[in-house]
Amino acid sequence: MPPLTAVIALCIPFVVLWSVRARRWAANLNGPPSQSFLLGNLLQLVAPETGRDWLLNASNKYGGVIKIKGLLNRPSLLVSDPLALHHILVKEPTVFEEWQAFTITNSLLFGDGLVATIGEQHRRQRKMLNPLFSLQHLRSLAPSFLSIAKELEQLLALRVGDDPQEIDITGASVSVLMPAAPFLPLLVRLGPARLRRRVVEMIPFRLIQKLKNIVDILAAQMEVIFREKQSLLKGGQSDKHDIMAVLLKANQNSSKSECMSDKELLGQMATLVFAATDTTSGAIARLLHLLSQHPEVQARLFEEMTSDERELNYETLASLPYLDAVIRETLRVYPTVPMMFRQTTADASLPLLHPIRGVDGHDITSVHVPKGTDVFINILGSNHLRLTWGQDASEWNPERWLAPLPETVTKNRSIAGVYSHMMTFLAGKRACIGFNFAQIEMKVVIYTLLRSFEFSLVPGKEIGWNMGLLMTPVLRGSDSIHSHMPLLVRKRK
Ligand code: HEM
Repeated sequence: MPPLTAVIALCIPFVVLWSVRARRWAANLNGPPSQSFLLGNLLQLVAPETGRDWLLNASNKYGGVIKIKGLLNRPSLLVSDPLALHHILVKEPTVFEEWQAFTITNSLLFGDGLVATIGEQHRRQRKMLNPLFSLQHLRSLAPSFLSIAKELEQLLALRVGDDPQEIDITGASVSVLMPAAPFLPLLVRLGPARLRRRVVEMIPFRLIQKLKNIVDILAAQMEVIFREKQSLLKGGQSDKHDIMAVLLKANQNSSKSECMSDKELLGQMATLVFAATDTTSGAIARLLHLLSQHPEVQARLFEEMTSDERELNYETLASLPYLDAVIRETLRVYPTVPMMFRQTTADASLPLLHPIRGVDGHDITSVHVPKGTDVFINILGSNHLRLTWGQDASEWNPERWLAPLPETVTKNRSIAGVYSHMMTFLAGKRACIGFNFAQIEMKVVIYTLLRSFEFSLVPGKEIGWNMGLLMTPVLRGSDSIHSHMPLLVRKRK
């Protein structure tokens, strides 16, 4: 027998034993049947066209904690129960720690920023960044938002001309790394950074190489901007409307034990650009798509925005209830990030708000989770929970925000996410730091664009939304793997 075959033959009993032992704890949990021994349900979960429905159907059929199968059919959990999520994100975030593959991917791409660190380093970074994202500080940034939105409007006006024009609203490529994520912990153990870089350079996928080039260009530009801002600060200049300049100043004034290294500061810059860009532009694209499908909502928004001529500032934006309702409902029904990941660092017990039925027919009110279990946070499923939002939970209905919310939503406020009772931006110490930023940005962009343009669907072109780390719009029936969202844009007279 050749040596490799002998080694494989010797390993088989251990793999089988490991797999059987790993399964026992979850024997009483229900969940969808596995599709393959090697990848379990993973391919169903990330299937571009059907992953979203699969995720929703799973939680509707099996309840708030579901057994799904991961690599080699190892049981993992898919969680949408509100109390269980509160436990994972707020009560025991160090036991339900950020998935290693996620932090490693982020550190390979963006350096040591918030999305790549855990524990004490994460706490220290978050403490420094939190004040930059407070409502009070963001309010002072409103003029910068407005001038950027104005530029966008002018660019669009140049492209549209007098006749309606078909315009592709998006473009992104970060989610291509998702299928490779489970293997990244192996990659970072491959020795020093230079060797890992060689490995990445040898991966024969055009998209990975394209992404590597984007990251390289981004990193080089960041470095230049970072050095510029540092020298401005040394010369006594700091722009209070510039988040990075404010961060550098805060860092300079903080104690030695709390301050960040240059590497960490650069990491924050890359992180913020990544975390802020594709997420919010995806949400804005989704909103424009919905408005194109619902001209009556678009017309009502236009009416609200133009009912009286006021200077556009933070206060004006805050006083538009229908715009607010449309944005909340879009972020609830179509969370840009449909799912997040955690892995347990110790044995744990997950309490449930809504008991689930076990395989043995009895109700389960808490689930034992052993150390090393992968936990998938079903953001989408949680936002669509009928027990919370009612039977029409999956319907996009902005009206629901103009009436009092059902008691099933308000009474569980203490265990809901950071934003509007939903999980779109998660909860706890790793919740999205930019959720207020995202809302203001969405309001400014929609306000500016809708007052000048009308958006509608392009006849004969169907837009679909593909599952990934972020939901991305694609043109159904086209071979392109890039995101596309063609809409007809018409200048208002
Ligand atoms: C619609 C837009 C957005 C959505 C749906 C979104 C969603 C999320 C989610 C789900 C997380 C948690 C990730 C995890 O568990 O590790 C997160 C984290 C984060 N987001 Fe956002 N985000 C959005 C916009 C923004 C913006 C505009 C910024 C910055 C200006 C931002 C910065 C961050 C950062 C830095 C983190 C990491 C926080 C930490 O680990 O402490 N996000 N976001």
